[in-house]
Amino acid sequence: MKSPIFVANWKLNKSYTESIAWISQNQTDLTLLAQSATIVLCPSFPALAPLMQLSKGTGILVGAQNCAQNEQGNFTGEVSAQSLQEVGCSHAIIGHSERRRLFNETDEVIAKKAFLLLQNKITPILCVGESDPTTELKIIIAALEPQLSIFKSAPYKSHKNIVIAYEPVWAVGSQKRPSIEIIGQVVQWIRAYATTNFPHFVVAILYGGSVNQNFMSLIKNIEGLQGILAGGASLDFQIFKNIVSLK
Ligand code: PGA
Repeated sequence: MKSPIFVANWKLNKSYTESIAWISQNQTDLTLLAQSATIVLCPSFPALAPLMQLSKGTGILVGAQNCAQNEQGNFTGEVSAQSLQEVGCSHAIIGHSERRRLFNETDEVIAKKAFLLLQNKITPILCVGESDPTTELKIIIAALEPQLSIFKSAPYKSHKNIVIAYEPVWAVGSQKRPSIEIIGQVVQWIRAYATTNFPHFVVAILYGGSVNQNFMSLIKNIEGLQGILAGGASLDFQIFKNIVSLK
């Protein structure tokens, strides 16, 4: 993989103390890993600031798992893109299938988040994927197209980098995975779509959904794939390290 990106999405699986322990116990190894790959750790909100402190000088980046769709105002419980920028986040995940499914997030809501992130110079990591297993590329494309189209009208003047994570919904947390051929075709299609529809953005394409060490060794040679988004496999440092080392 060329300039690979590895995103660790800890979801609600690590507490504040556990998040800090993960990075502080593995700082030397992480610093080495970050020399040849972009590592983005995405803990829950309270751990963002301490992780920023602990990652100083290591090359490790810190990202959020979500952000508010509004800039500011009376929106109890929300965290703004501006706050994420002030705390030092380089990335933020948006459109994760768990947020779409469990929190009813629509493409319209996700677009607002993407725009605010870009305006705050944070790289959005947009998750896109089809709901049910299929080997038919045209069904996958029909699901992905509206999800990706949010970038057609996105502001690009202040920040040009975006990440798109192809995450089949049915593969997330299920130990089920698409074939290498399908991932390869989808990556190529996303690349062509991005070049045609939002050429002013610099786009990195990742895969996510039940990645483990075995699967990493299979997908690492997929043409145009630039990294992975790992959920379960990022919780244990040794497993995450092994996956990054396979790049
Ligand atoms: P998983 O999660 O690796 O546990 O399937 C991936 C994700 O939620 O992005």
